[in-house]
Amino acid sequence: MAIITEEEDQPPSPKQSHSKIRPPKADEPISQPTSKSPSPNPFTFWFYFTLLVALITFLFLSLSYLAPHQDPKSWFLSLPNNLRQHYSKGRIVKVQTSPNQAPIEVFTIEHGPVVSENVVLVHGLGLSSYSFRDVIRGLGSKGVHVVAIDLPGNGFSDKSVEEVVEGGNGVLGGLLDVYDEIQEKGLFWAFDKVIETGQIPYEEIGNRISKRKVVRPIELGPEEIGRVLGQVVETMGLAPVHLVLHDSGLGFGANWILENPGLVRSVTLIDTDSRGFGALPLWVLEISVVSEVVLGVSFLYRRLINLCCSRGIGVLDAETHRVLLRGRDGRRAVVGMGKKMNHSFDIAEWGGSDGLKDTPMQVLWSGGWSKEWSEEGRRVADALPQAALVMHSGGRWPQEDTADELAESIVQFVFSLPNSVRKVEEEFIPEHIQKMLDEAKSSDHHHHHHHGHDGHDHHHDSHAHAHAHGAGYMDAYGLGHAW
Ligand SMILES: *[C@@H]1O[C@H](CO)[C@@H](O)[C@H](O)[C@H]1NC(C)=O
Repeated sequence: MAIITEEEDQPPSPKQSHSKIRPPKADEPISQPTSKSPSPNPFTFWFYFTLLVALITFLFLSLSYLAPHQDPKSWFLSLPNNLRQHYSKGRIVKVQTSPNQAPIEVFTIEHGPVVSENVVLVHGLGLSSYSFRDVIRGLGSKGVHVVAIDLPGNGFSDKSVEEVVEGGNGVLGGLLDVYDEIQEKGLFWAFDKVIETGQIPYEEIGNRISKRKVVRPIELGPEEIGRVLGQVVETMGLAPVHLVLHDSGLGFGANWILENPGLVRSVTLIDTDSRGFGALPLWVLEISVVSEVVLGVSFLYRRLINLCCSRGIGVLDAETHRVLLRGRDGRRAVVGMGKKMNHSFDIAEWGGSDGLKDTPMQVLWSGGWSKEWSEEGRRVADALPQAALVMHSGGRWPQEDTADELAESIVQFVFSLPNSVRKVEEEFIPEHIQKMLDEAKSSDHHHHHHHGHDGHDHHHDSHAHAHAHGAGYMDAYGLGHAW
């Protein structure tokens, strides 16, 4: 009754009629109006879901377009000239870090007279032998035989391995599989499937990829890097070596030095922090959105390097490091290696161990980077009583700022020690290589008659390499001498 009275009192209006209906139906589901919409269809959900996946995929695809997943050859051909030249002077050494894995190709570059003290340069994470280019030149011209290596996962060394894995692990794995499959077959394949069946074609994907080859980043820890070092030293006949470790190179080389005191003539540490970590903030590389942006925009990358590592780095050289780090998924390898570092490394314990007590050491440290960093240098030097502390004017990547100072300090230190007794002095050179060396010498003579002695020597060296090892290591990218 009350309802009827109310109705009579109020003028007719849409509002009023609404309030008239509402009270009696208050206990009914509110969703009633929606249920009146034409097609109550689970398909809508899948439609939007697919749209979302498509969008995300598109986003990822365009991002991964920015960070090229090219095949090595086209990646190589896209490199700037300075890098290609660096590569052309190098040599690939194959190493085996575990018996049931394919060999890893390690890029090395050498300079200077072969019969001299051997200096081996090991860079920190995110760098490569390229960063030492001027140090290498300086050392070579001062009469030291220098070899710089690219740690696996960095520079021109292998950054990934192929593995056969089982697919379909959990929801996330499933989604990743869908993503991979869509990336392979295109968006419309998945879209068609959804329209056909009303479902994401999980099963089909699952069947197809239950076993597949994937490319995984190489993520070597200090132990494996130790094996890499050992094999390079052995293959190239370098023992005993003056080891120069920069940045996180200490974290990777420390153990090998401990285990092979006989192969190590001296140790030089360049701005290696006391925990063995590096200057480049790895979290920037780890968060994929951040790293895509930072590694994708050369200006941002250079700003990052200016902040963390080197104030004086040239625009071109920063760009070169960026290209090397970003290419062939280097970022993931570097992040993986960072995680495998020895997080309980203790430099005092390391330096104080019996095997190292008699190993000559020096610490090269930045004098002007920051107050904290200078204090860290003191700590490192104090932890290594056998080491002399020498300051330089560069930053935490000083080879970019003041390569000459570094080369000078290294040379002085190396030549201040009694000459190394080489295990195999004047190692026998296989006959056919000796022949090529001779040929190279005589053919070279013609071209470089007017050049100084130094230039002649160097050219002769690299020329001989190109001949002797051409088939082996110049072909790493299937390019031969073509370029
Ligand atoms: C890590 O470093 C600590 C301290 O230097 C050392 O005792 C330990 O053996 C290292 N661990 C590995 C796996 O190298």
